[in-house]
Amino acid sequence: MARGRFITFEGIDGAGKTTHLAWFRDKLVEKLAPSGHTVVMTREPGGTPLGETLREILLHQPMDLETEALLMFGARREHLAQLIEPALARGDWVLSDRFTDATFAYQGGGRGLPRDKLEALERWVQGGFQPDLTVLFDIPPDTASERRGAAREPDRFESETDAFFTRTRGEYLRRAEEAPHRFAIIDSSQSIDEIRKQLEKIIARL
Ligand code: TYD
Repeated sequence: MARGRFITFEGIDGAGKTTHLAWFRDKLVEKLAPSGHTVVMTREPGGTPLGETLREILLHQPMDLETEALLMFGARREHLAQLIEPALARGDWVLSDRFTDATFAYQGGGRGLPRDKLEALERWVQGGFQPDLTVLFDIPPDTASERRGAAREPDRFESETDAFFTRTRGEYLRRAEEAPHRFAIIDSSQSIDEIRKQLEKIIARL
């Protein structure tokens, strides 16, 4: 079977990414059923037993910024080795709720870690490997914070300020400009129906 494809979903907290990802997965499963490809859903930080343990720590325990970036990439290395690379080699398609763009956006844009350090880690951990497609849910930070508002107890990232998310969003958009062939940007302030129409077009093109 041909090698599978790797698709990532990104956006600031409150962009609606997780809701749309579940719907996208179901549509993709339908589309791929005739060809026998399996769809694997995963997330970062996480996706492996070690990665999920690191996620718990990353989301709730205060730490030095460089430690945070290193743990994100440590979890990612494990994710690539144990789950993503073997799945793609088997011919499975992998959908990940976040990947490396999130580290550039959150630890780089949001928290201000110099980009050259993140680029060095990116080369170390994944060589030239990049997602085949990244769907970026773009939304103004004030709209996102309203949407997050009523949701559960916020983690270390969800409790950040609008200024933090403005920088995070800016870095996502810069990454998209740097690799336009890989990104599909969705205006996430639209209605769910509008967004689904756009996602359907993206799936049709895959
Ligand atoms: P998120 O993907 O929003 O999951 P949920 O919808 O369950 O809250 O949570 C993951 C958080 O981790 C999110 O706030 C962004 C942050 N994060 C980083 O800061 N850097 C990274 O490299 C990754 C993958 C995530």
